Amino acid sequence: MSRSIIEVNNLSYTYPDGKMALNKINFKIKDGESVGIIGSNGAGKSTLLMNLVGALSPDEGEVYVDNILVEKKTLPLIRKKVGIVFQNSDDQLFMANIYDDVAFGPRNYKLSEEEVRKRVINSLKTVGILHLKDRVAYKLSGGEKRAAAIATVLAMNPDVLVMDEPTTALDPRARRRLINLLRSFSQTKIITTHDLDMVLELCDRIIVLNEGHVVEDGFTLSIFENDKLMQECGLERPLSMQNCPLCGSKKKIGYRYNI
Ligand SMILES: Nc1ncnc2c1ncn2[C@@H]1O[C@H](COP(=O)(O)OP(=O)(O)OP(=O)(O)O)[C@@H](O)[C@H]1O
Ligand SMILES: [Mg+2]
Repeated sequence: MSRSIIEVNNLSYTYPDGKMALNKINFKIKDGESVGIIGSNGAGKSTLLMNLVGALSPDEGEVYVDNILVEKKTLPLIRKKVGIVFQNSDDQLFMANIYDDVAFGPRNYKLSEEEVRKRVINSLKTVGILHLKDRVAYKLSGGEKRAAAIATVLAMNPDVLVMDEPTTALDPRARRRLINLLRSFSQTKIITTHDLDMVLELCDRIIVLNEGHVVEDGFTLSIFENDKLMQECGLERPLSMQNCPLCGSKKKIGYRYNI
């Protein structure tokens, strides 16, 4: 781990109606890091991710992906390097069937139809929904759509995986499969979520957003143990770090951190 794959400098973003959602954000993410971005509803997480991939353009500051400035003319290259799973799967699935949804990105990059097929089948198998390949997205359940949206990104094999609330609408088995899958990836991962137990399992580093500001950027465990900070940001410790609700005894959370 050495070079920065993502660099955010002094980034501010205001929506057209005048709502300032991000205010002078700065951070760097190194190649191969897994970073959780957490914060209460409306903190600015989704807005930040959309600025990272160029779906929104900052009114101040800049974003670099692998030293390339994110701007209109670099977007085709940025899309190849960074794959995003949007918070709302309906933003991602618009073709006549799931196969074509997943094939859309690889076809755009003019891969042979045989290579496209390989990628589509592999990605659908990986997220466990190969059987849905001929179905149309709007007739699927929330969790099935989410899995399909994740498959569209996997098919692009990006260097950086950006995921906005990836476990929302997943049942426990699908959630576990996704966590295991993400853990097996060596790519850089940037995940926003309210599923703090997933963050505890996957991310060594957390960036905490509150009202459009970065209020903390550091080690996952020390942030989760900082009850004052968590409370001020409208957050709670992950369930696996809370005391037993029946007897009040402290839980051991050493399975990952060995403490
Ligand atoms: N299209 C929009 N127009 C105006 N304001 C918006 C728009 N989208 C979001 N906002 C506002 O920008 C702020 C940040 O929103 P954002 O969606 O980034 O929050 P979030 O941290 O992702 O929240 P959540 O946890 O609910 O997904 C909020 O105050 C929200 O109301
Ligand atoms: Mg959001």
